[in-house]
Amino acid sequence: MPAPSTLEIDRNFVDTLSDQAKNPPGNDPVLGSLYTVVLDMASNEGPMAETLRSVKRRRPDITNTHLVNLLPRTIQYMRLKEHDLLNVATFTTPEHWEAELSRVLYDEPTRQTWENLLVNKSTTTTVYQRSAGPYALIAYLYDGVPVSIADLGCGGNYTLRGMELRESFKAITDETPNQIVTRLISQRVNLRRGLGIDKENPDDREVRDWRLACRYPEELREIPEIVRFEERLREGSRRVQFLQADLVSFDWLPRRIVDVVILSTILYQLKPEEQVILLTRAKSLLKPDGILAVQDFAAKDPQSPTTLRFDETWSGLKFGYRTFLSCRETDWTCQEALQWMGGRCNVVRAGEDFDEIFIKTPPYSKALRKHSNGKEHAPLIIAAA
Ligand SMILES: C[S@@+](CC[C@H](N)C(=O)[O-])C[C@H]1O[C@@H](n2cnc3c(N)ncnc32)[C@H](O)[C@@H]1O
Repeated sequence: MPAPSTLEIDRNFVDTLSDQAKNPPGNDPVLGSLYTVVLDMASNEGPMAETLRSVKRRRPDITNTHLVNLLPRTIQYMRLKEHDLLNVATFTTPEHWEAELSRVLYDEPTRQTWENLLVNKSTTTTVYQRSAGPYALIAYLYDGVPVSIADLGCGGNYTLRGMELRESFKAITDETPNQIVTRLISQRVNLRRGLGIDKENPDDREVRDWRLACRYPEELREIPEIVRFEERLREGSRRVQFLQADLVSFDWLPRRIVDVVILSTILYQLKPEEQVILLTRAKSLLKPDGILAVQDFAAKDPQSPTTLRFDETWSGLKFGYRTFLSCRETDWTCQEALQWMGGRCNVVRAGEDFDEIFIKTPPYSKALRKHSNGKEHAPLIIAAA
């Protein structure tokens, strides 16, 4: 009797794959074709079904959405290592993917490499355009006052370096009243000092390669431009430090050193107990009048005003990527500032608490000015143990 196929083994995984094949992110034909072919191959016994079963066995905690997301990214990574990454953008038909996946699956060392990548890698896209949400919040609330900022889970460390070097954002379809976001992201944020923290060093070559391979196929043509952008940031930034640390297990971060902490697209990847640890650490890094800017696939918890709920499956929701504000002054109530159409941040509309934040001047904004004007804060210096 033949071994059960992937279809029989994990119906949820197949459902996720099937949904993505019908509605791939951004209606990308490259992703749609890939998922269709994987689905087809996995429904019969063979190396695809075996590989996926083996990945699930070796990585039992992986979510179905994450595994589906890793399928194109790991193939892209292998192509990048062969100096042929841009070619993947042309794989728009099932025939292209049948040829590509056969190439991978029917050569055992290559198949093994793919399986190991699926077992060991996690999606780590960094997109500068995403910084527009925290940037708009900070530009509004600090309005030119010098500000020190920590970016936790900074990925490529684009946000703070880009802020320092005044890198511009792409044009946004701005549905907020008076297009306030467009106005705010063209203002200057006066970055006094920045601190990016991540468990991976953004300037490490391997880390950089994986970050580039994590781009959507439709973005692959932009990679030469992204590489130049990264070089500009790395060479030009002077006021942004980087600390390599696992924010969940690392417990000696200094207290009360920054005005703003940004948590962008990191919490949804963590387990609930890890989210609690990270949020507690983020708050303790803040000065008493500091603010926490969270941006993620998240929603306010209707049962608890101080809690956000995170869910990676909301990445498929039209406006499921959101920017939140929270601070001690409001007893850490989570206010929803902005809603973005997807994690690429090209379309924005007002969040539920937009008026509260952007129209009625929050009291802590005035207090901040009084507190910060003309005063030098202690320098933001962190040394690894
Ligand atoms: C999806 S990327 C987001 C990058 C960037 N903040 C953005 O929004 O574009 C998530 C980042 O969080 C980092 N990360 C995840 N868990 C972490 C942990 N426990 N400690 C430190 N960094 C972590 C990953 O290495 C990755 O760079």
